[in-house]
Amino acid sequence: MKVLVIGSGGRDHCIAWKFAQSPRVKKLFVAPGNAGMEDVAECVPARGLEEWLDFAKKEKIDLTFVGPENPLSSGIVDLFEKEDLRIVGPTRDASRLEWSKCYTKELLRDIGVPVPEFENFDDPDKARDYVRSVGYPVVVKADGLAAGKGSLVCSTVEEAEEAIHKIMEKKIFGDSGNRVDIEKRLYGRELSFFCFCDGYHVLPMVAAQDYKRAYDNDEGLNTGGMGSYSPHPWLTEEMTQKIMDVVIYPLIRGFREKEEIPYKGILYAGLMMVEEEGEINPYVLEINIRMGDPEAQVILPRLKTDIVDVSEAIIEGKLSEIELEWDPDYRLCLIAVSGRMRGKKGWYKGYPGRYKIGEPITGLENVNKSCLVFHSGTGRGPNGSLVTTGGRVLCIVSRGKTLAEAREIAYREMEKVHFKGMRYRSDIGKE
Ligand code: GLY
Repeated sequence: MKVLVIGSGGRDHCIAWKFAQSPRVKKLFVAPGNAGMEDVAECVPARGLEEWLDFAKKEKIDLTFVGPENPLSSGIVDLFEKEDLRIVGPTRDASRLEWSKCYTKELLRDIGVPVPEFENFDDPDKARDYVRSVGYPVVVKADGLAAGKGSLVCSTVEEAEEAIHKIMEKKIFGDSGNRVDIEKRLYGRELSFFCFCDGYHVLPMVAAQDYKRAYDNDEGLNTGGMGSYSPHPWLTEEMTQKIMDVVIYPLIRGFREKEEIPYKGILYAGLMMVEEEGEINPYVLEINIRMGDPEAQVILPRLKTDIVDVSEAIIEGKLSEIELEWDPDYRLCLIAVSGRMRGKKGWYKGYPGRYKIGEPITGLENVNKSCLVFHSGTGRGPNGSLVTTGGRVLCIVSRGKTLAEAREIAYREMEKVHFKGMRYRSDIGKE
């Protein structure tokens, strides 16, 4: 069959790589893709809903899989389904679980799913009054999409007021900051939990540990993610069941009953696991409608089941007939980003702040073949050479019998790769 993957980041490269493993896929396209994806798929320069639809119709694509949240939130699934094209993902209305943090928090609270204490605001003055009154550290979150950077973690009232100003008045995330969700900052261990859903039946995947902060020891600003690993040490079978019973089933059922929309596609629960009276309890920090980046890069390589079979089961409502098989070995993903560098306008702080692009990338051919390399922000320079085009540039995914082994391999192999200003955290997988 002919498959189209929509996306251009590291997660989307990994999704394309996973489809390329399937004996059922005869031709694989990625739109728009990036320079690194050329090894697994044909990249097509289609961008935006109309161009993707035209391409899928012209090429008679049998199955489309959407990587990022933006096309889903803009209604790509509604558009494709109207034309009888098979596509994996939630409709625009179902995507609301990600495109409105405020809506989802209220829904979760209403149906009794554990969330941190929170309030939503569309008035910055009322938001400021609230953070002055609560007496605990908060996280200020833009309501809408913000490329994974919309949550500002604050330690003091001053920081929270500054976050409100930046999001609601300076509009650093545009209209996504018209409303904010302000929640109590919880302390514990983050866990990214993913499921395949067909509207009624839900299959949990294995979980991953993500590292969101820019610098070692979880310092610095939130990023899209600086690294990840799987299996997650806290995700036992019992804990999976607890998360399904306390979070996932009530959410899928509650959303269907409230909105009369069966949720189909990937469901991603960003959880904080909090130790309370000798027990570990999950609290939902956010819900997303897609695979995580860089969680996909450590989860999909562990999935032994054919992703085409899973995708068809999601579309046809037959997930109950699928049993997922997982490789028990560890995978660790280490991301290299564009760091601090002097640019045309002085010093750039580097990702997730301003960064320079167009730097040649060398050494990838020396990376041991036991590792996977997925590209996020790469393109072709004037002479066809590989250059940086983004903040997150590429990642190395290693495999080991233990976390320590996977960690050692990823760091050893990353030393072989070079580009000017390259930076990565030194503590991914350091337990
Ligand atoms: N790694 C976090 C995310 O994909 O949103």
